[in-house]
Amino acid sequence: MFRSRTNTLKRLLIASLVVALAATAFDLPALAQVNRTTFPKNFDKYVRYATYNRGSSWNDAFATPETLAIAKSGKPLPPGTQLVLRIHIDNKFFSYFVMEKGVDWGRDVLEDKRTGDWHFQEFDANGQVKRSAFAERCESCHSGRAVNDYMYTIDRMRDYLP
Ligand code: HEC
Repeated sequence: MFRSRTNTLKRLLIASLVVALAATAFDLPALAQVNRTTFPKNFDKYVRYATYNRGSSWNDAFATPETLAIAKSGKPLPPGTQLVLRIHIDNKFFSYFVMEKGVDWGRDVLEDKRTGDWHFQEFDANGQVKRSAFAERCESCHSGRAVNDYMYTIDRMRDYLP
């Protein structure tokens, strides 16, 4: 009687360990989400196509002339596209927000957080990754723009005149 109860407990313990291990393995991609976003090497070629003024804080949106031409044509932006939002807070530079699209990059992100094939990253003034940033926050806000390929400023790209 006592012995069989111990065996049942052992079995329960092993079963819960297996479940816990499986859960950990399943959760790994979420914990260590791959982020392939890089700061554009050719940022000096980028054009400021929009500014969003909020008093002492403002955001400037940048893209290459090629990207703006594709946006105007109505075609989807191709893999390799990088978009930059320069953030100023209290009259001071704060960060560069970059989104970049790559072939099948969506596969690196869990399905419920996926924003097409875009990855998101925050960079400092020197174009270095800000490790404190969480791409999940970018994704959760931009996921509301699925109808516009997860972009907020596509209309401003189309309206931009050099
Ligand atoms: C709370 C919502 C929200 C979050 C969080 C957010 N964004 Fe945005 N994003 C916006 C809005 C709104 C715009 C349009 C510009 C503006 O209003 O300043 C924008 C514009 C952009 C653009 C210009 C291209 C486009 O989408 O039209 C980039 C690039 C961008 N965001 C990257 C990021 C990155 C990287 C992060 C995370 C570090 C991030 N965003 C987090 C709302 C958000």
